[in-house]
Amino acid sequence: MLLCAALSATVLASAAQSALAQGQTVSAAMTAQPAGMEVARADMRMRVTALTDDILRVTIGRDGTMPEDASWAVSPEMRDREARVTPASDGFSTATMRVTFADGRLTVTDMSGAVITQDAPNSVTLDGSAFTLRKAMPQSERYFGMGDKTGGMDRRGKSFVNWNTDAFGFSSADDPIYKSIPFFIGVGGAGGSYGIFLDNTWRTWFDFGHKEEGVLSFGGPDGPIDYYIINGPSTAEVVRRYTDLTGKAPLTPQWALGYQQSRYSYMSAEEVRDVAARLRAERIPTDVMWLDIDFQDRNRPFTVNTKTFPDLPGLIEDLGDDGMKVITITDLHIAAAPNEGYTPYETGTAGDHWVKRADGQTYVAPVWPGPSVFPDFTQESTRDWWGALFEEQLDWGVAGAWNDMNEPAIFETPTKTMPLDNVHRIASDDFAPRTATQLEMHNVYGMENTRATYDGLRTLRPDERAYVMTRASYAGGQRYSVTWTGDNTASWDHLKLSIQQIINLGLSGFSYSGADVSGFGGGPSADLLTRWFQIGAFYPVFRNHSAKDTPRVEPWVDGPEHLAIRRRFIEERYRLMPYLYGLAELNARTGDPILRPVFYDYPGALNAACDQSWTFTVGGAMLVAPPPKPESPQQYDVCLPAGGWYDYWTGLPAGEPAADQDDAPILSATQATGGPRVPSSIVRETPRLDHLPIFVRAGTILPRQAVVQSLSETPAGPLMLDVYPGEDCRGTLYADDGHSMAFQQGGYVRQELTCTVTPEGVSIDIGAREGRFSPWWQQIAVTVHGWDGTAEVRQGRRTLDSRSDAATRTVGFTFDAPSRPTEITVARN
Ligand code: NOJ
Repeated sequence: MLLCAALSATVLASAAQSALAQGQTVSAAMTAQPAGMEVARADMRMRVTALTDDILRVTIGRDGTMPEDASWAVSPEMRDREARVTPASDGFSTATMRVTFADGRLTVTDMSGAVITQDAPNSVTLDGSAFTLRKAMPQSERYFGMGDKTGGMDRRGKSFVNWNTDAFGFSSADDPIYKSIPFFIGVGGAGGSYGIFLDNTWRTWFDFGHKEEGVLSFGGPDGPIDYYIINGPSTAEVVRRYTDLTGKAPLTPQWALGYQQSRYSYMSAEEVRDVAARLRAERIPTDVMWLDIDFQDRNRPFTVNTKTFPDLPGLIEDLGDDGMKVITITDLHIAAAPNEGYTPYETGTAGDHWVKRADGQTYVAPVWPGPSVFPDFTQESTRDWWGALFEEQLDWGVAGAWNDMNEPAIFETPTKTMPLDNVHRIASDDFAPRTATQLEMHNVYGMENTRATYDGLRTLRPDERAYVMTRASYAGGQRYSVTWTGDNTASWDHLKLSIQQIINLGLSGFSYSGADVSGFGGGPSADLLTRWFQIGAFYPVFRNHSAKDTPRVEPWVDGPEHLAIRRRFIEERYRLMPYLYGLAELNARTGDPILRPVFYDYPGALNAACDQSWTFTVGGAMLVAPPPKPESPQQYDVCLPAGGWYDYWTGLPAGEPAADQDDAPILSATQATGGPRVPSSIVRETPRLDHLPIFVRAGTILPRQAVVQSLSETPAGPLMLDVYPGEDCRGTLYADDGHSMAFQQGGYVRQELTCTVTPEGVSIDIGAREGRFSPWWQQIAVTVHGWDGTAEVRQGRRTLDSRSDAATRTVGFTFDAPSRPTEITVARN
């Protein structure tokens, strides 16, 4: 909404004497703007615009020239938004934030005056094309996000560079690695959680008090000074708003939530068939087989090695009959193979689609196929050409595309990538057509590669969901692809790191990510691989993958005992599929990650007394607590947020010993330390290789299903609802056909579930069906946990048969799945 013109009168900032530039005192003039304000000083202009009540855009123009209003990450519709603001002499306010500029510093507070974020002295420094922004860094604040970066979960005290890098064998502290997501969330400050997203594709850097205690700085060598401040106050609200800004991940096809089997490489169709057959013979639920580069002819994208894969469509069809999809790798480097009838090279050359060298010649460099050329994905026409190349693969029945090496990786050069003066010719979106060097386009190149693939798949099969996996990306890349953490290593350290990376990716918009289960390089011990399967079963993308010349790591490799544990966890993931798929659908609408840090839903957990370095929740209601020292037999404590929890495996209230268990895990009430004192309870765990502690929040209705061997099977029996009574008790049922876009036209079903603890017992409310999809379940089997004695269960006037079990403290009953709102009461009798 625009404000009246009278407000645009220039007023001198109350503290016009500002210290905007280092060592300088310059006077700044402030002008009210329709949705914010503008501050001018001799060498720059700063504009602060409220796009919404909770999202501010800050753009800074050097020498009075504002940066181009264009972005690879933020849509024009978002950038064009303007919130209604109320001007003040020192700034303005939205419905939720006050924004002031005084003493050369931008300060954002909530309406009570609590600081959300505030500039540090010398808040903006310009040095030629380079810039540095400085923010105050309160003692209480921690920092998350920044994509897949290593170095532990909290970014505080560390320094990072954004430069997409082929980081084969990266250590748990290496930086930069594959992705550049210049976005972080500050958590724990006075004004609550907030986010800052610097929309600049150059080699930007972020320093969280590493260089200078108490100062959070970020900047870049060039490019737009264009950043967003995103208000919370909860972390969840920041993530939701960040994904309002940069886009939601599309709803995944459901099969992609199943177990996925990969290897660099299964070398022949025969080998793929053998592995698939063994997966089925061993009753290991599996949904996807991946084909890595060796299925291609001489590693050339969009080809097939017909000697080793003589009938790829036949292979795909047979696997499909057995409930398995096939995803193929398609790297972006196209073999520079003139006059060989290699269509991608011929048509790409004819269309002038290649990235150029500084001298204007086509850039040619070695990657897997040998000398290769590189599509200029910053041109819309090139993306369209690239997308159309997938037609043949789709005709063969390929279910998804894997875009690897898109940093881009280049062989035989110490920089591992293109020369920095390579030239792209931007012709896309609302950018003014122009050339741009690799320095500017490098970090966004991988994302535009996935955009080309995603759009291509969607155009070729408009009724189907597209599935693309990428290694490199930029902010907003979640709109086009899921991701994995690249070439990790078979070590305990990397297993733990994987969760920290997946958590931070989820907070950075990429809800769908995974790490190679087993570690790509090296070979895991049997115990490590078993643990990796257990943890991987909760990754949003659950894929076993390993490098050439490393030991095999399929689930059966270490004998029947290990296989039994690994199978049990894979099966558990399939049992949880109704819950997982519901979370996927929630993510598509809200941006809430599937795998989350505990503090996402329980802010007090930020200061828990336990080592939570890789404790996580799946969707908030399930808390997974692996041993903090994963390879050690040492006992450890799990802090459960206030409100009560159940043990997922026994179904009993957390801390209560199962009937066949002698010793109860020690359960004690405690207070968190080092922050707001939040009551929680602690359960002591002794690590056991066949066990992974998982807890369910009291107040959860958890939907589950019978195990299937693939998601193309209809589960036998009823849908299961496990009701864990407690406060704010809820759950969601969601289903659709799992693969098409029909859900956008009402082809889905959603039912909200709630439960209330009553003096007599529990009442369960099943909401009306929304949407017009008929789900697979005809019946619903409920298990109420924490129940003592027998029960009378009533649905309206009908009494339902029920079975109570003293050992598990449950009562169970089954009824026909209702499409109308239904209340079921469970009363002690
Ligand atoms: C590098 C990728 O990170 C890895 O996953 C893949 O197997 C190899 N490239 C071969 O394509």
